[in-house]
Amino acid sequence: MSDRSAETIPAAAPDGPGDRPPAGVGVQAPDRTGFQPPDGARFHLTIDGTDTSLTVEPGQSMLDAALRAAAWIPHSCTQGTCGTCKVRVLCGAVDHRDSPDYTLTADERCGGLALACRATPTQDVRIQPVGAVDDGVPRHPLRDYTGTVIALEDIARDIRRLVVEPDMPMAFNAGQYAELIVPGHGVARQYSMANPPDGPGVLEFHVKRTPGGVATEGWIFAGLTVGDRVALRGPLGQFHLVHPQPEPAILIGGGTGLAPLVSIARHALSHNLVPEVFLYHGGRREEDLYDVEVFRELERVDGRFHYRPALSEQEWSGATGMVTDVVVEDFSSCKGMSAYLCGPPAMVAAAQKALKRRRMPPRQIRREEFTPAPQAAG
Ligand SMILES: Cc1cc2nc3c(=O)[nH]c(=O)nc-3n(C[C@H](O)[C@H](O)[C@H](O)COP(=O)(O)OP(=O)(O)OC[C@H]3O[C@@H](n4cnc5c(N)ncnc54)[C@H](O)[C@@H]3O)c2cc1C
Ligand code: FES
Repeated sequence: MSDRSAETIPAAAPDGPGDRPPAGVGVQAPDRTGFQPPDGARFHLTIDGTDTSLTVEPGQSMLDAALRAAAWIPHSCTQGTCGTCKVRVLCGAVDHRDSPDYTLTADERCGGLALACRATPTQDVRIQPVGAVDDGVPRHPLRDYTGTVIALEDIARDIRRLVVEPDMPMAFNAGQYAELIVPGHGVARQYSMANPPDGPGVLEFHVKRTPGGVATEGWIFAGLTVGDRVALRGPLGQFHLVHPQPEPAILIGGGTGLAPLVSIARHALSHNLVPEVFLYHGGRREEDLYDVEVFRELERVDGRFHYRPALSEQEWSGATGMVTDVVVEDFSSCKGMSAYLCGPPAMVAAAQKALKRRRMPPRQIRREEFTPAPQAAG
């Protein structure tokens, strides 16, 4: 066990996900009364059309409060970059804090919209989620966890497998993610669970090194070792496959975008949720691929599973080219199929375009984008 294991684990930031805004930068809206809440005030949050009424702690985001109370607000990135968590503030007022203008425009703020993952109430509020609530999906309340690193290994160029055993098991849907709290920085970063939910109670993450990155180069690829204690919270996100579906699924991942897709593929196959799974993994060169033999073996033993790695910068025995072009070559039509896309935003956008070319209806496409934290994106 390294010295770091003795470190005090930082308490989870009260606003839940993401970095904390600097004090005093929040923009209060749409409070038209000029009222400033007393420091430390708690407010009631009601979700319109449901019987959900809960308390939001000082500085806590509405999304964090709702998910901890097992209520649901649609969301994806939990860091203010995707806009999935937009809600209409029907009555009361919120502080938008560090909601980025590119996600929540000035007009939207004036029109009473807010990002539930960033905004905190300044009065009792009643809100209505803008996005559709995916009914019938098991909801696992958001919780803070501590755990121990039980495995940490290099599995590909600049990619590590990190396995954490939480002190209490975390229930999650295949495809969801957790936030790891970076020690000493007061920031959290999102990492998708790569293992299926009904495993032995551990959480497996695939982490790519980001040059200069606080969580990756500064921690997971630096001082973190087996035996270290870590703080995390989860589960989060609505990228998942939980319902049986009659159509085959195409899973396309770039880099560590493979992580939630492996969880989804394994869960879907073992629970007979899909008739067939086509797993595509894109990398530049062979050293970017990982778990190749594991997938080849799965392909050998399960005729419903097909594995297609593709390399964009190397001729080899397998598919060559952008992974999205390989999908286009492989299927003359994707009508009657569904897709799960994950990885860097540019790859996800290219995959959506490719599937559209192959006539897959947009409603059949689910996606998770690994967007950088807003402060880091700068
Ligand atoms: C929902 C979700 C799930 C995620 N799941 C995973 C996962 O399973 N595995 C994984 O490896 N990552 C995942 N990520 C990305 C991860 O959360 C971090 O953003 C990433 O590891 C970088 O963190 P960092 O602290 O090391 O870098 P930071 O300190 O945040 O960034 C350092 C510098 O790198 C730039 N940067 C950061 N990320 C990127 C990027 N993707 N592309 C281009 N520039 C970038 C920043 O703009 C900044 O200049 C996920 C992100 C989201 C939103
Ligand atoms: S902007 Fe709130 S979940 Fe993405």
